[in-house]
Amino acid sequence: MRDLVPDMASCLSVDGIQISRNGKLLLDVSHLCLDGPGPTLILGPNGSGKSMLLRCLHGLIVPDRGLVRQGSAILNADHKARQAMVFQQPVLLRRSVAANLDFVLKRQGVHRSARRTRIEELLSEGGLEGKARQSARSLSGGEAQRLAILRALALNPETLFLDEPTSALDPSATQIIERMILRASTRGVRIVMVTHDIGQARRLAADIVMMQGGQVVEHGAAMQVLEAPENEASRRYLAGGLVT
Ligand SMILES: Nc1ncnc2c1ncn2[C@@H]1O[C@H](COP(=O)(O)OP(=O)(O)O)[C@@H](O)[C@H]1O
Ligand SMILES: [Mg+2]
Repeated sequence: MRDLVPDMASCLSVDGIQISRNGKLLLDVSHLCLDGPGPTLILGPNGSGKSMLLRCLHGLIVPDRGLVRQGSAILNADHKARQAMVFQQPVLLRRSVAANLDFVLKRQGVHRSARRTRIEELLSEGGLEGKARQSARSLSGGEAQRLAILRALALNPETLFLDEPTSALDPSATQIIERMILRASTRGVRIVMVTHDIGQARRLAADIVMMQGGQVVEHGAAMQVLEAPENEASRRYLAGGLVT
């Protein structure tokens, strides 16, 4: 497992985190260290705790027990400001496509003239040239998700979390988004992404976190996990079998 030789300085890690609701233990991860640039893909059946883990890593949920760390420091507001997150259903403002990007850039204090150039760059990055004035609410599902990713990238995040960003999209829309994610990764953005699409993990992942019943049952290099999973639940999940 990669966990044996972590680079602690850049490691996004969790130690002993637990989340319970209504007396039920929903998330229980003793240790996980994301030390590589990724993309890290989090895989597992519905209800296995993938979204909850992602929310913990982004500081949206504080676990009942345990800690999330960036390097040796406990995750704090400065770390969170250098993270961005994209959800399955894109969260957009009821404004034009360009205004959605302008809002994020303005909030970061980017000067008006620089914002115009940056918006053009971003629209081109997402293949949304010519859509600047269109209402964000009138975009197709794939276009709306591309805009949501561009809004996240406009923050120049160190880490980008994505929670099943393509699960509502068709293969061609998915392919465009996968390319955006890979380009961001190549530029040095650390990608941590949830999917239940094994093909997508195969296409994108450098490392894979397998979840089952609220626990991380395996974390390793993508090839190793996909081709020779060590864990029985991982094996059954990857073989397409039912995991309960
Ligand atoms: N706010 C909540 N209250 C109670 N149970 C929750 C809450 N959020 C999630 N759960 C439960 O926690 C488990 C893990 O959820 P989740 O992380 O969303 O799974 P996944 O993303 O892998 O499908 C599921 O059983 C879900 O029903
Ligand atoms: Mg989920």
